[in-house]
Amino acid sequence: MLVPAKKLLIPARAKNYAVPAFNVNNLEVLKAVMSAAEKMRSPVILQTSEGAIDYAGIEYLSAMIRVAAAGKIPVVMHLDHGKELRYVKMALAHGYSSVMMDGSALPYRKNVAITKTVVRLAHAKGVSVEAEIGALAGIEDFVSVEEKDAKLTNPDEAARFAEKTGCDSLAIAIGTSHGAFKFKGKTHLDIARLKRIAGLVKLPLVLHGASGVREDVKKIAESHGAKLGEARGVLDADIRAAIRNGVAKINIDTDLRLAFTAGVREAVDDLPKVIDPRKLLEPATLLMREVAMKKMKLFGSDGRVR
Ligand code: G3H
Ligand code: 13P
Ligand code: ZN
Repeated sequence: MLVPAKKLLIPARAKNYAVPAFNVNNLEVLKAVMSAAEKMRSPVILQTSEGAIDYAGIEYLSAMIRVAAAGKIPVVMHLDHGKELRYVKMALAHGYSSVMMDGSALPYRKNVAITKTVVRLAHAKGVSVEAEIGALAGIEDFVSVEEKDAKLTNPDEAARFAEKTGCDSLAIAIGTSHGAFKFKGKTHLDIARLKRIAGLVKLPLVLHGASGVREDVKKIAESHGAKLGEARGVLDADIRAAIRNGVAKINIDTDLRLAFTAGVREAVDDLPKVIDPRKLLEPATLLMREVAMKKMKLFGSDGRVR
């Protein structure tokens, strides 16, 4: 069942669990995530970035996701990090049920203006809008407290922004960042800041850059030639604290990429005589499925589909 994000995220925030949002670029990722969602009885958000759309084509992606949504599992078809209006319009024309307008790199007023435009276009079609305020960056990247305060989400500004734009959910910056190299030293999120934001913004909050970079998966990839160095992600304990404090949508891409890489590398090494792509990709799909199932358990979204 294809649903607007709002329908899943409002109950998630109210009941203190989070809906997983996985980045989808191809059939293998999609099948792995849907199989996990069915097994765990979890609602799911299937999101495509502008890069995914450029890679696979929005016609293929939206058609595949529509097939995934034809069953009992509530599915959101979501545009991740829409930065250009043309991708938002493309998503709306292709039946997406949710779009993100990411104006976080723009000056505040411009972010408000473009987000308002997207809210108007999307709400006219019953489509939910995620917006973002603050810059995603690891806390260690800031050299001073002043710089940290200037870049991470300011609670008062977030409240004004939510009110002015009429967005349905809000992505916030509390120390996470995209990719596999999130922290150089100790992993750390600004949960005190999140608490202040959640006290003022009653919308479902969204955590980007939330992959955990699982050690066991990293090891499989490295034992088959990957060079991942100091790759490090967000701790499960921090994810739980974020969910307790208003985060209702959690974005995961890197953890699936790692599982895909580990599975493919292992299969290519272990099956030197095999040339059938289906056999080479199957272990990667199974590993991504397992990673997705663990996220659903961690986020408390399992068992939410009756
Ligand atoms: O926002 C980052 C997501 O991991 C999507 O990445 O733009 O390479 O598809 P991408
Ligand atoms: P990760 O890189 O931590 O998986 O974050 C993905 C994300 O935020 C997509 O929007
Ligand atoms: Zn993101």
